[in-house]
Parts: sequence; structure tokens; C-alpha cells
Amino acid sequence: MKVALYVFSGTGNTLKVAALYKQYLNAEVTVYRIAKRSPVPPAPAEFDLIGFGYPIHAFSAPEPILKFAKTLPELSGKQVFVFKTSGEGLHLNDGSSQKLIKILKDKGGDVLFERHYVMPYNMIYRHSDEMAKQMWIYTQAMVMLNARQIENGIRENTNQSIFKKIFSAVFRVIEQPFTHVHGPLFKVNASKCIHCERCVKTCPQANITYKDGKFDFGTECVLCMGCSFQCPTDAISVGFFKFWKVNGSYRLNELKKDESLYFPLVPDRAKGIYRLYKKYYRECDAQLEQANINVADFID
Ligand SMILES: Cc1cc2nc3c(=O)[nH]c(=O)nc-3n(C[C@H](O)[C@H](O)[C@H](O)COP(=O)(O)O)c2cc1C
Repeated sequence: MKVALYVFSGTGNTLKVAALYKQYLNAEVTVYRIAKRSPVPPAPAEFDLIGFGYPIHAFSAPEPILKFAKTLPELSGKQVFVFKTSGEGLHLNDGSSQKLIKILKDKGGDVLFERHYVMPYNMIYRHSDEMAKQMWIYTQAMVMLNARQIENGIRENTNQSIFKKIFSAVFRVIEQPFTHVHGPLFKVNASKCIHCERCVKTCPQANITYKDGKFDFGTECVLCMGCSFQCPTDAISVGFFKFWKVNGSYRLNELKKDESLYFPLVPDRAKGIYRLYKKYYRECDAQLEQANINVADFID
């Protein structure tokens, strides 16, 4: 089986999930990053199965993955699935794929199922190392389970309630135009910047230009946070989202091995906002138990 995973990712979480699909699916899997400087991926006709991956932005799929889906030729019955990552597992996120799924179905795609993986926040607040460790370990177990389900021919209803559809649509039509207007408010702090240009290279929208020692942020921004998250000196200020900025990779594979970090934080020691994750992990535990997958096997 030949599988293509078309992935939009601002700060790498969704690409990490795509890499897990590549690891666990017994198939020839190729991951294509949706980014303006990346080559245009091959057409779906060359593959038996297509996955679309994205990070949830304001309860919806970000503009680049929606635009990319719209540019695809007719899918003529091609089997597709959707996977998404987000910083919390609340069911308010459930409707986020509805627009994408509609585009895929309108093109004749046979949408099999969608999956949601909770991964560390790249915006709003930084998850603790213990929480990030738990997220990464569970995501690995869940992708293994979902890869098996694909191989067993899974098919599920992907339709969501009208409330969830409207909720997602309202946020989408506000957030997406806003990100473009807001883009030029990003700035580089000259006293911190080391001119490595990582922000320029990482921006999936090719929205940052560097000339004569100065950075310019245009209106193509989709607020993916790649530039400020990856900046090695935390030199980028992010306009209105100053208090929501998260800088620096979570080093997930190192956290996974770190025995000083208690596992599983949720539910055992969940306090404050982390109590909101109990339901998500209860649902994961139930599915893993049914599939006879032991999450502890994913701790190195
Ligand atoms: C602009 C923006 C909006 C976001 N909105 C949500 C949201 O509505 N719900 C949520 O759980 N996480 C939200 N997040 C968090 C991301 O979905 C999450 O960190 C994701 O795993 C990032 O994936 P990436 O590294 O592939 O970009 C948002 C992040 C950004 C930057």
C-alpha cells in the first residue's frame, strides 16, 4: 500500500504524528509538508490512501491545509483520513475538521475517519515537562492503535453535530482573516537576534524576508507560531499574543526517557487546568485496553 500524508505544521507537532504513522503503518508512507517553499506534492492518484494532518487553530483547520485541499484534483473515490493535533482534548475541538472533510467529500474523496492527538501547546501556555511526556507517550500508543485500525479497514461516521460545525465555522471566519492583518505586527528584537534566519527558513508561508540586517513580516501569516517558537534566542515578539507566546522545543524524546518525570501525571497527580485532560486520557485508556496495547510499553 502506498500512503501520502499531506501535513501542515507550524511548530512540528503534527509532523511528529505523521512520522509515527510512517513508523507504525505497514505501508510505503511519504510525508509531504504543506509549505510555500516546499515542492508541490505528487497528486493523490499516485497513492492508495491519503492522510491530511493539521494543528487545530481556533477550533478549526488552518487556512493552508484548506487551501491545499481545494487545489487538489478530483479524488474519485480515493480513501482519505484526517488527523489533527491540539493542546487540549476538549470536545469543543471536535468540529475542527468539518470544513476540510466537506472539501474532500465534494471532490469525491471517501473519508474513512479522523483522529485527534493531544500534543503540547505551541501557544497560550507552556505545558509542564511531565504533561508533555504524557502527551508524547500516549500519542505514540494511539497512533500505533490507529495504524492497526487502518490496516483492518476502519470506517467511521465523521459527521459532527450542527452545534460543533457552527462553533468551528464562527471561529474560522474570524481567526483566518485576522491572522493576515495581524502578521505585520510580529517584530524582531535587534538586541537579542543572532541573525541565524531560522525564522525565515521555518515560516511555512514564506512570510518573513531578511534584507540588510532587517526582518520584514508580511500579510501571509497564518499565526502558526513557527518563527517565534523556533527562535533560539526568543527574539521575536508576536503582536497581540505577547502573553501567550511559547518559545522553545519540548524535546519530547528526551522527556519520554526522563525517569524523574512522573508518569502518568493525568489522572494520578492532575491539578488545576490539567484536570481538564482526564476525560481525554480516560477515552484513550479505554481504546488502548480494548486493543490490548499497554501504554507503559512506549516509555523507553
Ligand atoms: C493560532 C493558534 C490557535 C490554536 N488554537 C487551538 C485550539 O483552538 N484548541 C487547541 O486545543 N489548541 C489550539 N492551539 C494549539 C495547537 O493546536 C497545538 O499546539 C498543535 O499541536 C500545534 O501543532 P504544530 O506544531 O503541528 O503546529 C492553537 C495554536 C495556535 C498557534
